[in-house]
Amino acid sequence: MYKLAVFGNPIEHSLSPKIHALFAHQTGVQAEYTKILAPIDGFSQSAYDFINQGADGFNITVPFKIDAFNLATTHTINAQCASAVNTIKVNGNELIGENTDGIGLVNDLTKNLEIDLHDKIVLILGAGGATRGILLPLLQQNPKRIMIANRTASKATQLAKDFAKYGKTCGFGLEKIKNDPVDIIINATSASLNGEMPNIATGVANNAACYDLMYGQQTPFMQWAEVNNASMIFDGLGMLVEQAAAAFEFWTEKQPDTQAVIKTIKALND
Ligand code: ATR
Repeated sequence: MYKLAVFGNPIEHSLSPKIHALFAHQTGVQAEYTKILAPIDGFSQSAYDFINQGADGFNITVPFKIDAFNLATTHTINAQCASAVNTIKVNGNELIGENTDGIGLVNDLTKNLEIDLHDKIVLILGAGGATRGILLPLLQQNPKRIMIANRTASKATQLAKDFAKYGKTCGFGLEKIKNDPVDIIINATSASLNGEMPNIATGVANNAACYDLMYGQQTPFMQWAEVNNASMIFDGLGMLVEQAAAAFEFWTEKQPDTQAVIKTIKALND
C-alpha cells in the first residue's frame, strides 16, 4: 500500500485525492492519498510527521513549493530549473524532489490537445514561480522561441536569461507585446485569481491557441482570448491531471490513462 498525500494551505478544494484514486483504480495499485493542511509556517514539521508515519511520497501545492524544494535532499533537473518542488519521493533517508508541472503542461498540450510545439512561437504572460516551473519542459520541445512578458519587465528579462542555455528565450514588459500574432499564448500570471486580465495588445491572440494554467472556470484570460479570435482556448484542467500522472508514475512506475481521468474530473467539475 502506497502512503501518499498532498500538502497545501488551503487544501480543502484540491482535486488531487480524486485524481490519484482514479489512477490507482485504473492501474491496480494499492494507494491511500490524503489531503494535509499544513500551517503556513509549519510545512517541514508536517512533512516530517508524515514521513515518520511511513510515507512513500507526497505532492506539494501553494504556498509550499519552495519549502518543499528546501526539504528535498536531492533534486531532479526539472526541480532545479523550477527552483520549486511539487512532488517528493521518500527513498530511505533520501527525499527526492521533482517538479511535474512543466511536464504536465507539455503532455496536455502535445498528447491531449495535439498541439505540436516544435518551431512554434510561444508567448508566456507572467514571470513568477508558475512560469519558472514550465520553462524547461517547454524549451525541450524545441519551439522557435519563447517570449516572456511580465508586468515587471525586469523579472521577465532575468528569467529569459536564466533559461537561455536551454533554447531561444526573450523577456520584456507586457506593454511591449505587439499586435503580431503568435502560435501559442500561455497565461501564467495570477491575475485571473483577482478576476483580472493584463491589458495587452489584442491582435496577438488572433488565431493563437490560448491556454490558461488556471482551471475550473471561464477565466478573464479565456474570455479575452474568445473576444480576440483565438483559434483554440483551454483551461489548465488537463495540466492538473497530467502533472498528477507524472507524479504517480514517479512514485509507482505505473503510467495511468489520463484522458479517461480528465473526462471524469471535467464532468465532476461542470
Ligand atoms: P506564481 O507562483 O503563481 O507564478 P508569483 O510568483 O507571485 O505567483 O507570480 C505571479 C505573476 O503574475 C507575476 O508575474 C505577476 O507580475 P509581477 O511580477 O509584475 O508582480 C503576475 N501578475 C499578477 N497579477 C497581475 C495582473 N493583474 N496583471 C498582470 N500580471 C499580474
